[in-house]
Amino acid sequence: MPPVLVVQRSRRPPPASPTMGGRKVCIVGSGNWGSAIAKIVGNNAAKLEQFDTTVNMWVFEEEVSGKKLTEIINMQHENVKYLPGHKLPPNVVAVPDLLKASAGADILIFVVPHQFIGKLCEQLKDHVKKETIGVSLIKGVDEGPEGLKLISHVIHEWLGIEMSVLMGANIANEVAEEKFCETTIGCKNLEHGQILKELMQTCNFRITVVPEADTVEICGALKNVVAVGAGFCDGLSFGDNTKAAVIRLGLMEMITFAKLFCKGPVTSATFLESCGIADLITTCYGGRNRRVAEAFARTGKSIEQLEKEMLNGQKLQGPQTAAELNHILKQKNLVEKGKDGLRQAASGLRVQGLLRLHDASDRLRGLSLQRQSLPLLPAPKSPEAA
Ligand SMILES: NC(=O)c1ccc[n+]([C@@H]2O[C@H](COP(=O)([O-])OP(=O)(O)OC[C@H]3O[C@@H](n4cnc5c(N)ncnc54)[C@H](O)[C@@H]3O)[C@@H](O)[C@H]2O)c1
Repeated sequence: MPPVLVVQRSRRPPPASPTMGGRKVCIVGSGNWGSAIAKIVGNNAAKLEQFDTTVNMWVFEEEVSGKKLTEIINMQHENVKYLPGHKLPPNVVAVPDLLKASAGADILIFVVPHQFIGKLCEQLKDHVKKETIGVSLIKGVDEGPEGLKLISHVIHEWLGIEMSVLMGANIANEVAEEKFCETTIGCKNLEHGQILKELMQTCNFRITVVPEADTVEICGALKNVVAVGAGFCDGLSFGDNTKAAVIRLGLMEMITFAKLFCKGPVTSATFLESCGIADLITTCYGGRNRRVAEAFARTGKSIEQLEKEMLNGQKLQGPQTAAELNHILKQKNLVEKGKDGLRQAASGLRVQGLLRLHDASDRLRGLSLQRQSLPLLPAPKSPEAA
């Protein structure tokens, strides 16, 4: 019998890394998603030689029950405010000072609500190595002088580092519970995509790397707007068929928008990845944007008030992104010139009394939708969990 060659699974040798002991990782952000990803990254960094074991997590300092959140995280290894009930690995260290947290980082993971990214980049400017690998998990867009600006582009412009993005059907609490899901990394530099996949993949968090980074990011931003529409549908008790129509039309609008605004290629294959259709579905059924939009339609309270009442410090992305998109489309004179199919579909929905998303975003901009504008419906029998 020929000898059996036993191949020992050895840990991959660290690639030529700028720092001894593997690449140093810093997570910029520590909300619901930031903390869930810290759990994965911390566990992987502790196991894999190509990464430094210590993972710094920048935390926007705040007091929780009279104690500093960073101290609670470092003592209890739990973000009791944004991801309660889940232990973080002890090698994840909460740091309240952004420059200290990111000092010497070879990999920066950006995961804050998009409205805060400009201020953070301003602080980081001139303190980040040019060869640092950046990845944005942020869903949203910014408005630039020429219209739409992707958040990864904003970061790149401030810091001069190459950016990838990670987007997918990834509701943070489910990821933290280690329930199976997929996600998509969009990267222009495939070597970076591979390194990030090693850092973030687990057996329950499966990553596909694709080159169309801008399309991946646009999907992540736009799906939150569709989720607001899906929430209105639920709030107005329009039923599952109508909600499915809103999701389908929303996907068409996402594709149209991506084709109009992405400078690089936009292929339908990317919309079939987790960042596309899967994220859209999960957000329109399970996400906070849908939930708050449902309450908005039912109660007539302002989005700001509902955010305070329902989200315990978490931030909504959909309404602000809708307002930004509406502004960008108006600037380009594209609101009224919608594609034929979309216009027809939108008028069909108007027959049923459903707000068009653009109209809705106009109203959200002023946060002024009055109770009398919408039929008041009874509150749901059992409130959904957050
Ligand atoms: N939560 C999810 O399920 C999920 C999943 C995928 C992507 N995302 C995206 O990840 C990004 C981050 O969301 P999240 O869920 O981690 O955050 P979150 O909404 O749970 O928490 C808000 C965060 O903002 C911080 N913050 C508050 N004021 C601040 C300020 N002035 N400056 C800087 N930070 C401040 C808070 O400390 C907290 O960490 C968003 O773009 C979101 O769309 C979220």
